[in-house]
Amino acid sequence: MLKPITVAVLMACVSTPALAQSQPWLDKSKSADDRAKAAVAAMTLDEKLTLVFGLRDSSGLEKIADDIVPPAVKADVEAHAIKHSAGYLPPIQRLNIPAQWQTDASIGIRVKGGMQRTALPSSLATAASFDPQVSEAGGKMIAQEARASGFNTFLAGGVNLAREPRNGRNFEYVGEDPWLAGEMAGGLINGIQSQHMVSTMKHYALNDQESQRTTVDVTISPEAMRQSDLLAFEFLYDRARPGSVMCSYNLINGRWACENEYLLNKTLKQDWGFKGYVMADWGAVHSTADAANFGLDQFTGFPCCGDKKPWFAPKVFKAALDKGDISMARLDDMAERIVWPLFSSGVFDDPVKVGPIDFKANAAVSQKAAENSLVLLKNDGNLLPLSGVKSVAMIGGHADKGVLAGGGSSSVDPVGGNAVPGLQPAAWPGPVVYMPSSPVDALKAELPKAKIAYDGGDDIAAAVALARSSDVAVVFVTQWMGESFDGPLELGGNQDALVAAVADANPKTIVVVESGGAVLMPWKDSVPAMLEAFYPGIRGGNAIARILTGKVNPSGHLPISFPASNAQLAHPDIPGFGKPEGSMPVHITYDEGAAIGYKWYDVKALTPLFAFGHGLSYTTFAVTDARANVANGALSVSAAIRNTGKTAGKGLMQVYVAPADYKAVGWEAPKRLVAFHKDSVAPGASSAAFTQVVDPRLLATYEVSDNSWRIHAGTYHVLFGQASDDLPVSVDVTLPDMVWSAVHK
Ligand code: BGC
Repeated sequence: MLKPITVAVLMACVSTPALAQSQPWLDKSKSADDRAKAAVAAMTLDEKLTLVFGLRDSSGLEKIADDIVPPAVKADVEAHAIKHSAGYLPPIQRLNIPAQWQTDASIGIRVKGGMQRTALPSSLATAASFDPQVSEAGGKMIAQEARASGFNTFLAGGVNLAREPRNGRNFEYVGEDPWLAGEMAGGLINGIQSQHMVSTMKHYALNDQESQRTTVDVTISPEAMRQSDLLAFEFLYDRARPGSVMCSYNLINGRWACENEYLLNKTLKQDWGFKGYVMADWGAVHSTADAANFGLDQFTGFPCCGDKKPWFAPKVFKAALDKGDISMARLDDMAERIVWPLFSSGVFDDPVKVGPIDFKANAAVSQKAAENSLVLLKNDGNLLPLSGVKSVAMIGGHADKGVLAGGGSSSVDPVGGNAVPGLQPAAWPGPVVYMPSSPVDALKAELPKAKIAYDGGDDIAAAVALARSSDVAVVFVTQWMGESFDGPLELGGNQDALVAAVADANPKTIVVVESGGAVLMPWKDSVPAMLEAFYPGIRGGNAIARILTGKVNPSGHLPISFPASNAQLAHPDIPGFGKPEGSMPVHITYDEGAAIGYKWYDVKALTPLFAFGHGLSYTTFAVTDARANVANGALSVSAAIRNTGKTAGKGLMQVYVAPADYKAVGWEAPKRLVAFHKDSVAPGASSAAFTQVVDPRLLATYEVSDNSWRIHAGTYHVLFGQASDDLPVSVDVTLPDMVWSAVHK
């Protein structure tokens, strides 16, 4: 555990004016650029090398030779790294440069064993809120916990598009659309960095399948990636300026992501003007000179998993410098990039301080996020909200104990502990964690007069008997997903049969789905009501109960399309699926280009099970006063949301643009999401008009020949509505030809 003395000493040093004269980077009045330059100018070679090679906690270090990690460094790690955390870089005491304590990640702090913390809903769940303020509030909360736990660097958030719906990590990401993803992950990172913390966007890039993630080579054209996967990162970068970017495990067009010049040097650093540092995912480095020269700035988390060699260890790096394989200027650049965000985000001037955490208040933040995010998929005959019911059969999904969470490096040991310990796999990427928030207990509290009984669902006959003797039945189905594996879309075990049998026994059956992402629902037509909860976080059970009973009006919308079958997918088979990790080189060509999710369904004229953006409410809404104007080449869209029902609720407007002829203007698909806005509206009332200038990249194609974005003149329909398959209002605009450089000003 972090020794508080270290923090106190650093704080005292930072605030001494005399020191600020001899160490100008301590002077808060100077810009982050000047401070970073001054700090690096004062560093010795060994000090610079401290910054580029990060460690983990002390576990495993004893096996590392002393010329790779010197004894003094091992002792520092032992004394100051936080046990079982992701990464640690020792401080440069002479220059008052703080240590970097790196923690996973998107839904809360991960420290295995002994550090229970608050878990937000999964990132995909929060994306379903379509409200960046929700992700920002979550980011702020987990960053406050991180500060109080001794961390100053967050390995969040994930912004890979859900190109492969079976990707085991989709729950860590924010959906299939670049604009939505950039806005939602941007909210998270803004919230995190507002607490004087460095945050990291990841996994850059095209790390779309977990099967063979360390060997898969993705072939994709520059146009396609700039208009889809990289665009999500670009939007996120514009919105939140994360101090760090984590390069991923896979290869892109034959080059490892962590030594991919096109991705790192060209796109990220030259075109977008990224000033922070690129850190490698744990075990994702494959060379010294190539990695450094093609854009990697920090190798951290050593020794880990796939690390074949300590590629950036001082001794190894010095040898590359001596041979002239890496220039000193490049090392200076790496060091400057690593310290720059410590200044720009406030880590330096506001050191972390271990302290108390208000877990009750933080759990309320998580519950609010869930309440804004759960998606009512279906509600025939207004079965929900439950009212006046005398008896409820609650079935399956360990609903008597808690709600499911995803596995792998984003998994949080929750306050209150794992509600269902002992499930398999117990080891990586497990343990399987259930958040201690029982939907059964929560429903009992919401409906004190009703008889609420629970059946585990293993014995279908028993579950059916309970359902038959109850007014309504609520069946919980679960799909555990996690890092390092992909999953089938089919629910496991007897769950499909259970739902079908219960629905047959009781026509008032509601299904609550706790899943990493999309699942197939062969019983969809025989079940009248369905709520998609994804992984709803540490108070997920309460959020579910409050939505089922109408205390909260659901307002989530799907951030991903739900396919009707595997045959609808761009890649019906995942290469390397189910084989041991790293056991084979695999290759995948993205012939679908930038047509991901709803764009793919539109191109192929397929009807998914549920469309991107779909989500119901206990009231009804209409989008009104729709307008679209072009002024000086910029398209602005505007509309209001009217509550046409009898219950207060939050309505979501979605705005898409569809060229009159999408192929003629070079688009990948018939339409793109360009704006969304959510508002609380009283029954019979209208929200204030919402206006947004559409980001021109959403109207353009990326032109590789001259590294530009181009809007092709023509007629474009601006479509307004509440889901990608429910866009009743259309306004036409004419856009002029426009070309501009892809290099950020
Ligand atoms: C994951 C990263 C994570 C890192 C450190 C890797 O396995 O891919 O997302 O930040 O571990 O825990």
